[in-house]
Amino acid sequence: MQIADFRLERYFAKWEFAVRHVLCASDCEPWAMHDLLALADDDARGRWDSLRLGYTESLGLPALRDEIASLYPGLSADDVMTFTGAEEAVFLTMHALLSASDHAVVVWPAYQSLHEVARSIGASVTLIPLDPHDWSLDVDAVAAAMRPNTRVIVINFPHNPTGAQIAKADFARLIAIAELHGAHLFSDEVYRFLEHSSERLPTAAESSTSAISLGVMSKPFALAGIRIGWIATRDRAVRERVAGLKDYTTICSSAPSEILALIALRARTKVLDRTSAIVRTNLGVLDEFFARNEDTFTWVRPLAGSTSFPSLARGDIDAFAEALVETEGVLLLPASQFGYPGNHFRLGYGRCDMAAAVTRLEEFARHYFSIAQP
Ligand SMILES: Cc1ncc(COP(=O)(O)O)c(C=O)c1O
Repeated sequence: MQIADFRLERYFAKWEFAVRHVLCASDCEPWAMHDLLALADDDARGRWDSLRLGYTESLGLPALRDEIASLYPGLSADDVMTFTGAEEAVFLTMHALLSASDHAVVVWPAYQSLHEVARSIGASVTLIPLDPHDWSLDVDAVAAAMRPNTRVIVINFPHNPTGAQIAKADFARLIAIAELHGAHLFSDEVYRFLEHSSERLPTAAESSTSAISLGVMSKPFALAGIRIGWIATRDRAVRERVAGLKDYTTICSSAPSEILALIALRARTKVLDRTSAIVRTNLGVLDEFFARNEDTFTWVRPLAGSTSFPSLARGDIDAFAEALVETEGVLLLPASQFGYPGNHFRLGYGRCDMAAAVTRLEEFARHYFSIAQP
């Protein structure tokens, strides 16, 4: 298989654990093991204490699949499969859906695997850019991109990196476009439950029998380290193809991680409330930061998710981000890591150290632009 480097992940591999503040993280402040276990109900605590560390069921722990299915009205555990993170699910689902003669339509910018895996299969890919003025999606452009061999439309709302969200009517149109063309809607919903000033969309899997919803424990559920993701779809043929491919990657999920995911999903009101509170506080800090620094940074306030995609109004973001990380140990993610033009950068606001990181960013920018920078 020939596949291009995943630029963002290579960048994180270099910096993530070497810096003081990851100000571009997309995940949310992780739970500590002790605090998570304290949320366990009696059944889950019993499962944890008596857990035997053998192989697990390839489709995922039935009780966990049940709990995941409860996020999708009308679906049951049979419609759900778990994976090692959302990333494995993206890789295998794209392989299940596409061959070299097929075409994929993908909203852009995007988490790279959402278009790169398709390319590595040999499929042709049409990227549909969001409008940088407000990060809106032109649904007509999606319709116009459809070809007889289009097998999949890939969307991601709430959107990484921009924080965009679409209206329910546009979501319904995307479903209709996919169905009209006999294509699958592959809907990356990993930031679902992090809506701020927007309505929560229905899931793709509940909305269409051929659509596939992607979920993960990493973002609003704040458990990136357990590496549990899933797909939910009523399309049995897709599930069976994906299940066959999983035998060549991880075979089954990690036994302890399945129980930890079960605990968090059963306690999801508490888990999601905690994340929402962090994100709400951080958005307040960012509102003030961007108001104070209008001449240096511009942003479209995110409607949902845990990331935003502001722009540096002067200078060059790659040079700025490099100087920032070298001198302050604060990591930003320049747009070039998404293959996206211009001076945008990803700023994540799901972590508790965000305000401290933003203070360092602000002081650094003041100094940087006061000495001979454009
Ligand atoms: C839009 C999107 N999809 C999928 C993933 C993969 O999630 P995970 O790393 O938890 O597997 C990410 C991670 O950042 C993401 O932002």
